[in-house]
Amino acid sequence: MKIHKAWWLGIRDIQIMPAPRHRPQSRRPQWIIILVFLVSVSLIGAYVYGSRHYSACYFFSSSSCISFKQWLPPSPARVFTDDEIAARVVIRDILNMHPMQSKNPKIAFMFLTPGSLPFEKLWEKFFLGHEDRFSIYIHASREKPKHVSPLFIDRDIHSKKVAWGKISMVDAEKRLLANALKDAENQHFVLLSDSCVPIHDFDYVYNYLMDANVSFIDCFEDPGPHGTGRYSNHMLPEIEKKDWRKGAQWFTMKRQHALLVMADSLYYLKFKHFCKPGMEGRNCYADEHYLPTLFHMVDPSGIANWSVTHVDWSEGKWHPKAYRAQDVTFELLRNITSIDVSFHVTSNEKKVLQQRPCLWNGVKRPCYLFARKFYPETLDKMMRYISNYTI
Ligand SMILES: *[C@@H]1O[C@H](CO)[C@@H](O)[C@H](O)[C@H]1NC(C)=O
Ligand SMILES: *[C@@H]1O[C@H](CO)[C@@H](O)[C@H](O)[C@H]1NC(C)=O
Ligand SMILES: *[C@@H]1O[C@H](CO)[C@@H](O)[C@H](O)[C@H]1NC(C)=O
Repeated sequence: MKIHKAWWLGIRDIQIMPAPRHRPQSRRPQWIIILVFLVSVSLIGAYVYGSRHYSACYFFSSSSCISFKQWLPPSPARVFTDDEIAARVVIRDILNMHPMQSKNPKIAFMFLTPGSLPFEKLWEKFFLGHEDRFSIYIHASREKPKHVSPLFIDRDIHSKKVAWGKISMVDAEKRLLANALKDAENQHFVLLSDSCVPIHDFDYVYNYLMDANVSFIDCFEDPGPHGTGRYSNHMLPEIEKKDWRKGAQWFTMKRQHALLVMADSLYYLKFKHFCKPGMEGRNCYADEHYLPTLFHMVDPSGIANWSVTHVDWSEGKWHPKAYRAQDVTFELLRNITSIDVSFHVTSNEKKVLQQRPCLWNGVKRPCYLFARKFYPETLDKMMRYISNYTI
């Protein structure tokens, strides 16, 4: 604000500055002062406009210059509402907090499932021997699960119904996060479905997540009908169209980010009210947009932009490929574990493929720790493979 003002004063000063009259001896110094002044004005202009709007040119070569209109200061930043000011300070301070040190850091594995978990035995094999480094939470939205592994007994949290694509999905994720946050030793939080399987051993997964300096939240810009096409102007003023993002819901996040999700009600309520199936004749699915958009707005460099849970959309159908027993081979698992580039395809006619290397703390590494969707019938084969293919 101060800069805008100074700049305006400057312009006015130029216009009203009297022409030099009868002091020839002071002519040169005065011109130097004016020149220095004009250069500073253009530098301040560059600062105010930022690199996007400013094209370097000098006042003196007006023809190749951007028009004066573009030199006007940008419209003032909008006035934030009370709720926005409150949300912004809370989010800023959470992000600046030093992570709480815990003597015995654990990863919270949070299962979002309609009922029983078909891969409990596989997960048990994955977890055994690492008892002090994980905790399990289960949100069963339809029926009480029957547990076959002692590790999963008494780990159900109080759950509610979940409707596909509705805000109740986000609510279930928040319920899992809140329950897992109760344990101060949980430092990283993983959301998994009943059709997810691990594709690496526990130590690999633990170190991959604990040592990463980001949360693995899928996030990309899709200008097509299933991306920005789901945006509604009701999201304004807090959420602008340019900030709208999309991503698969299967996240992993650091404790700080989990707290941030707990602290947010402002942006959450926008999605609850204005991103739902049948909204203004379009379908918007909050679980695909809330977290990607929120983190893109508040901490873009704090997220990896890909999900560590692999899923195969290459068939181009409404649902991803679901693996049958005959599909599960050593080759399939080796293929999935060796992918080190993340893909996103836009939903417009161009179907632009966005590819990015999976950079883990700046180093290219395989992207995936888990995979979906696996039919329950693949359990036996997965049990046999798990010790062979994991690193
Ligand atoms: C994720 O994408 C955002 C842009 O949306 C970028 O600023 C950020 O650096 C990316 N994260 C990583 C880890 O590359
Ligand atoms: C594994 O990857 C190779 C090379 O991309 C491909 O030809 C093959 O079909 C894949 N196999 C499976 C089972 O996905
Ligand atoms: C994560 O580490 C990489 C490599 O050191 C660095 O470039 C990046 O800025 C870090 N990101 C964060 C959010 O600390």
